[in-house]
Amino acid sequence: MDADPQPRIGEGLDPGSPNRNLVPISLDRDGEGRLRLAGCGLSDLARRFGTPLYVIDEATLRATCRAYRQALDRHYPGDSLAIYASKANSSLAITAVVAEEGLGLDAVSAGELLTALEGGMPPERIVLHGNNKSAEELALALQHGVTVVVDNWRDLELLAELCRGRTEAVPLLLRFTPGIECHTHDYIRTGHLDSKFGFDPDQLEPVLKHLAGCRWARLQGLHAHIGSQIFEIEPHRDLAGVLADALALARGLGHPCADLNVGGGLGIRYTAADDPPSIDTWVEAVATAVVEACRSRGLDLPRLLCEPGRSLVGTAGLTLYQIGSRKQVPGFSTYVSVDGGMSDNPRPITYGSQYTAVLADRPDAPAVERVTLAGKHCESGDVLLRDLPLADCRPGDVLVVFATGAYNASMGSNYNRIPRPATVMVHEGRSELVQRRERPDELLRYDVLPERLRSVG
Ligand code: LLP
Repeated sequence: MDADPQPRIGEGLDPGSPNRNLVPISLDRDGEGRLRLAGCGLSDLARRFGTPLYVIDEATLRATCRAYRQALDRHYPGDSLAIYASKANSSLAITAVVAEEGLGLDAVSAGELLTALEGGMPPERIVLHGNNKSAEELALALQHGVTVVVDNWRDLELLAELCRGRTEAVPLLLRFTPGIECHTHDYIRTGHLDSKFGFDPDQLEPVLKHLAGCRWARLQGLHAHIGSQIFEIEPHRDLAGVLADALALARGLGHPCADLNVGGGLGIRYTAADDPPSIDTWVEAVATAVVEACRSRGLDLPRLLCEPGRSLVGTAGLTLYQIGSRKQVPGFSTYVSVDGGMSDNPRPITYGSQYTAVLADRPDAPAVERVTLAGKHCESGDVLLRDLPLADCRPGDVLVVFATGAYNASMGSNYNRIPRPATVMVHEGRSELVQRRERPDELLRYDVLPERLRSVG
């Protein structure tokens, strides 16, 4: 067996660029070499709270929030606001931390919006997105004074109806497709022209003219988003020019348009091979490009908004599993199964995403084999990691998968009627349950058995 190609876990941790680390900044080892997070032993957490278990390092989350705020303050001469794209991981506790750090929040459904409001996010810092918002979702946003990101004509029809008789104008952002290509998985590209999100660029002028005649609307700004898990800087620079052109058009038609929202998209490190720019580098590039684009068009600087999700919460999270069965297929693979899988992390089966994993109590033990780390779902594709170099291990050992803070819990399912894991937030030696584990019997909560079927069986 070759030497483990992974670097020593936690090596070269940079608290200033948390999205460039593979692991949370509070990760270290106890005297026996076992991994701890914020002073809490990972295998102790697994024993206490059960597995699979999502663990969020509050210090990393706060560090990423601060990195965005400080970078915006440093590199952008005007006002700015970083808005957490809560689709990455929506919970009351994460909302509370993000709100306390002074960020705003992007919600895309009534569920995310209610979580944000209940978690203490001030409504004036919330934006409601969505390419097919329901009347109920829009009404909830209006009721709380949340800014609505208008995505299409249907939004405008519904809003006009809901605003009939209203005296106060509704704050709106207008989303359009910027027509920018970038390199990421096809499913998570949104900026290219053939996208379901936002107005087509051809529609920009007609919709701006239409809005100029809507007394119920106040167009506060423009929005575009190019995609997710992006390592390139150039597409974000190009976006500034496209947005500034649109801003000039909108202001020329009489809209105040004080805000420019450049979306999210900055990537994180899932494996040693990933090399994303730091939050500071990304913000500097975006801020500089927006300043240049506005100055060259003679535009007053807008308030700069950005909407990071993954780079705020991804590295802050990890997942703990217990190792279970093993199957060796001579000449092929060795399958080692864990007690979770595609229901708590659908990213490998959906996007072919890669991750890094080690044993919680022996992270530095030499790898003795390469295994296929399988989930417990009834589906052959339910594989979390292929070709994982693994140290000698036994059933019951706790395995850590890093960088699962974004788009894992929020994309989870109950496939095979497997309950959703708990989430624990750790900070300065404390570990607190922030999302309780589902029980199998709770999964029956929404089933209804019609009377006529009751006698069956
Ligand atoms: N703003 C808008 C309008 C978005 O659609 C998204 C992500 C973001 C901001 C945040 O992007 P981020 O900073 O997280 O890249 N489920 C996929 C990712 C889907 C992203 C959807 N939109 C994954 O697991 O990779």
